[in-house]
Amino acid sequence: MLQDKDRIFTNLYGFQDFGLKAAQGRGNWDGTKGLIEKGQDWIIDEMKASGMRGRGGAGFPTGLKWSFMPKESDGRPHYLVVNADEGEPGTCKDREIMRNDPHTLIEGCLLASFAMRAHAAYIYIRGEFYHEASNLQRAIDEAYDAGLVGKNACGSGWDFDIYLHLGAGAYICGEETALIESLEGKKGQPRLKPPFPANAGLYGCPTTVNNVESIAAVPEILRRGGAWFSSFGREKNHGTKLFAISGHVEKPCTVEEAMSIPLRELIERHCGGVRGGWDNLLAVIPGGSSVPVLTKDVCDDVLMDFDSLREVGSGLGTAAVIVMDKSTDIVYAIARLSEFYKHESCGQCTPCREGTGWMMRMMQRMVRGEATLDEIDLLWDVTKQVEGHTICALGDAAAWPIQGLIRNFRPEMERRIKEYRARIAA
Ligand code: NAI
Ligand code: SF4
Repeated sequence: MLQDKDRIFTNLYGFQDFGLKAAQGRGNWDGTKGLIEKGQDWIIDEMKASGMRGRGGAGFPTGLKWSFMPKESDGRPHYLVVNADEGEPGTCKDREIMRNDPHTLIEGCLLASFAMRAHAAYIYIRGEFYHEASNLQRAIDEAYDAGLVGKNACGSGWDFDIYLHLGAGAYICGEETALIESLEGKKGQPRLKPPFPANAGLYGCPTTVNNVESIAAVPEILRRGGAWFSSFGREKNHGTKLFAISGHVEKPCTVEEAMSIPLRELIERHCGGVRGGWDNLLAVIPGGSSVPVLTKDVCDDVLMDFDSLREVGSGLGTAAVIVMDKSTDIVYAIARLSEFYKHESCGQCTPCREGTGWMMRMMQRMVRGEATLDEIDLLWDVTKQVEGHTICALGDAAAWPIQGLIRNFRPEMERRIKEYRARIAA
């Protein structure tokens, strides 16, 4: 279990004030100037040594991503963009940082921007996050007033501005290139990659888009050293991590733990266990709605990290753990997610625009039991026509939960169909 002394987010639950004075009392902004004086290469090397993989869901190595930013200036400004458009169903970790520990994020923005030679950072925050946005803006204003950001930030000689931008409620604007389009004032539709943002991002300039949790962890990683962060977890899955656990547990919560903690330990230690006991568990979606659902027998032993969850056919994603006990109608639960993805598809590419509608309608037939047994294979084929054939990851995200359902809960789908047939035949 992670000790309190090893926690990066010390005010996650808002027991203390989020303002500057209290944040400094918790160690924020301690020696920031000294960290900047160590230089850009040192910061990027420490981030590489930390082994951090991006906390937004994809798990791309953070230090490596930063190193893609050009070192020589070609006259274009560089930008850091923080993805605070937390919209993945089940996911509620970044909002806790912004509401209760906003100075971790602001200090992280300065250090990350300096490392990537950016003089400006944009935080694109989900429009519904009213309290988070107002706390964050208050913290930004305090940081300006104290000279921590702005001209000659922290007395380091580096000029740095930070802007907060509210989104307008589209899930797809959490995709990094759609977010950039939206920030530029256009319709939030993903761009084809490559080029990646490091080559052509915001206003066509070198840009890195990072998740809130990734950036907010940076100051503490640099203060304690990359080796400290990498001492948690296991090979290629390092660090501490925020997990958001919801659903059929006694006490849903968001908690910072060591990466690679067993799923069962996470639920029993921090959430009071599954409602009705572990044996009452039916299934878990371990990483936000975009990853396949797991059956109880897999949950018995699986570790909560990128590689372990991939090995069992799912993913860590946003580390939002959705727990479902035996009272759950699992076919309906996944059908509900299909509806979500159909609603949120931006409509730009045909397999996603048409496929999400097909998948939703077929899932609704599965819920009612009206489908034929052959349609389960047909549904599988449709998911395969969507997966990997779209501009952004939303297509995959719509296909994978259904694939997980068919792979793991096919007997339940067949049972409903047979029962419905028997009923209408009677
Ligand atoms: P991705 O794998 O395409 O990219 C991840 C990051 O690495 C991006 O910043 C990308 O620019 C960079 N990258 C990848 N390959 C690169 C290369 N060859 N050169 C330079 N940069 C490279 O994944 P994506 O589409 O950004 O994210 C998908 C994930 O987002 C899903 O796994 C899902 O879990 C998560 N997600 C999170 C949400 C949230 O609310 N936090 C909402 C929806 C999805
Ligand atoms: Fe839009 Fe879907 Fe295509 Fe992504 S996959 S660009 S959300 S239509």
